[in-house]
Amino acid sequence: MDTRTGMTEVEVWWGRIGQVRDEFAADLDAVERQRLAAYVRDDDKARFLLGCTIVRRLLAARLSLPAASIELTRTCADCGKPHGKVRVDGAELSVTHSGELVGVAVSDHPVGLDVEKVDLGIDVDGLARLSLADEEIATLAKSDDRARAFTTYWTRKEAVVKATGDGLRTDLRTITGPPAGFQLVDLETDTEYVAALAVMAAEPLVVLAKDAAQVLI
Ligand SMILES: CC(C)(COP(=O)(O)OP(=O)(O)OC[C@H]1O[C@@H](n2cnc3c(N)ncnc32)[C@H](O)[C@@H]1OP(=O)(O)O)[C@@H](O)C(=O)NCCC(=O)NCCS
Ligand SMILES: [Zn+2]
Repeated sequence: MDTRTGMTEVEVWWGRIGQVRDEFAADLDAVERQRLAAYVRDDDKARFLLGCTIVRRLLAARLSLPAASIELTRTCADCGKPHGKVRVDGAELSVTHSGELVGVAVSDHPVGLDVEKVDLGIDVDGLARLSLADEEIATLAKSDDRARAFTTYWTRKEAVVKATGDGLRTDLRTITGPPAGFQLVDLETDTEYVAALAVMAAEPLVVLAKDAAQVLI
């Protein structure tokens, strides 16, 4: 909480894969370099590199430290491999990527951010059976843009499980709103995308949308 305002501030930094430059890789640690090398597709590499770079540079600016010296951990709670939620001492983070967009949320409170490009080709009914509650499926049936309506539910649920850190271990059908102690909001991004943010905080939220170009120069 910001003690002056009684509000919970969350910065959400948005970048696009077109902003990525090879030289960003120089600031990555050994784990990140290994993960970067393991991606086969160029756009997966670009999304991952951009996410790492936005995280490092926004923390570098906050802490007045070089981006390469920021110590991040990504230990998976399930298997111990470094592909879990990104963590740093002194701040709470959440990273998301889809299509052209990369988002990073940072706050003093646990956060979960999810963006998805709406894919009109998805099997809405199949996915809905796996991830939506019965009342959500009933509401979805009345929508005239079912892919977008489904993806909106999906990003809200993902935001929640990313804020708790539980990831897809949680049965998404059981998440029909923010759990006790959390707040959940939809965020505006590009028209083809939907995004949601979950925050573990009681005080009202102030969400500050930031353009990653500020830290990518
Ligand atoms: C990660 C997850 C929460 C979201 O994935 P997604 O919507 O496909 O992808 P997003 O781009 O929105 O999010 C990816 C980011 O989530 C973060 N993340 C990974 N696991 C996370 C978790 N348990 N909680 C919160 N954040 C997590 C990472 O920072 C990752 O970014 P990175 O690629 O820079 O490391 C979800 O897909 C999941 O739980 N996946 C785990 C599935 C799996 O096979 N895990 C391995 C278990 S051994
Ligand atoms: Zn794992």
